[in-house]
Amino acid sequence: MENFNYYNPVQILFGKGKIAEIAALIPKGFKVMLTYGGGSIKSNGVHAQVMRALRNYEVVEFGGIEPNPRYETLMKAVQQVQRENIGFLLAVGGGSVIDGTKFIAAAACFRGGDPWDIVAAGARVTVALPIGVVLTLPATGSEMNANSVVTRDSTREKLSFASKYVFPRFSILDPETTYSLPPRQLANGIIDAFVHVMEQYYTVARGDEIQDRFSESILKTLVEIAPRLMQEGAPDYQNRATFTWAATVALNGWIGCGVAQDWSSHHIGHELTALHGMDHGVTLAIVLPGVMRATAGSRRPKLLQYAERVWGTDNADQAIDATERFFQSLGVATRLSAHGIGADTIDRVEQRLRQRAIPLGGMPDVNIDNLRDILASRL
Ligand code: NZQ
Ligand code: ZN
Repeated sequence: MENFNYYNPVQILFGKGKIAEIAALIPKGFKVMLTYGGGSIKSNGVHAQVMRALRNYEVVEFGGIEPNPRYETLMKAVQQVQRENIGFLLAVGGGSVIDGTKFIAAAACFRGGDPWDIVAAGARVTVALPIGVVLTLPATGSEMNANSVVTRDSTREKLSFASKYVFPRFSILDPETTYSLPPRQLANGIIDAFVHVMEQYYTVARGDEIQDRFSESILKTLVEIAPRLMQEGAPDYQNRATFTWAATVALNGWIGCGVAQDWSSHHIGHELTALHGMDHGVTLAIVLPGVMRATAGSRRPKLLQYAERVWGTDNADQAIDATERFFQSLGVATRLSAHGIGADTIDRVEQRLRQRAIPLGGMPDVNIDNLRDILASRL
């Protein structure tokens, strides 16, 4: 195991009815900005629950944060925060609303020039407005981590930052808020959580047994509950609760302590979203099987461990096939061509990542020189 520091200050309130407890968590006297997306929280009743809980606060609303939140939209919120002297941000939604709110929180306090530098130039964030979260889409883990991914339309860049100052103060995880999710977003969330685990697990076999077995338990749980989630008639609380917690623990930093990591599927996937607007989960379902096949030789011991413990086979190829079939079983096409994407995109992705000149993921066996082959294998 490698040395590590672990810090996670996010208070979690998990379960039915927990939204009612928000008022106890936001300091009195703060003017609150409620941030949300395209309106799902209004049609599924979550907005009404939140407003009821906030009845003794002055609340302003900022809606319209898009999936893959846009810098241009977020900067409008930043201006409103500064103009109206907002003291607390409450993000109600999925990863995009939460990530967007983290960026707003940091950008509103940023005095180092252009706020875009926070994601584009690694400008240091030293202070941010406090954030609370009501999660409605289990997927990203953003509710319990310090990461944020922001997209800029004008340059078609999708970039991220991390800062301990944007950890949410609290996150409400009420599985009932997920009942209104359409199958497409359930599938995206299952894939995203699965691939978060893989990026922290499918690297080297070194006997990091605690972390490995935590990771394998999340992977196996996702495989087991996925068909139930996709096919349940009426939403089932236990399935939703398991899914919600699985997605949170997949990326709250815990399983990543002391282990090698490889975020190449995410780096490559972000380029596909930036260029083609694809859902984040779909990009991962396309890229991860390619990364696995390209590294099947160099990571053989870990691949065999994954094959045996997650899929019950001693055959490495079968485990990769099973992974891809799992994504397909969620209704997601795992080939670029099925999404109308051809070889010209591979050129563009390679060019953009070459220009950025940052490591692709963390393991030497996925790099800018074999990126082309990996993507070509996914056409
Ligand atoms: O906008 P609304 O109307 O709310 O609808 C959303 C949106 O259209 C809808 N939705 C959310 N909760 C719902 C619901 N619809 C019905 N019922 C509900 N309960 O789902 C759609 C997608 O939402 P979005 O927030 O975009 O999805 P997700 O949670 O998958 O977030 C994706 C974003 O997170 C980033 C991705 O790159 C992408 O930008 N990620 C953030 C990470 C992090 N902060 O650690 C890590 C991830 O790897 C990922 O990169
Ligand atoms: Zn992800």
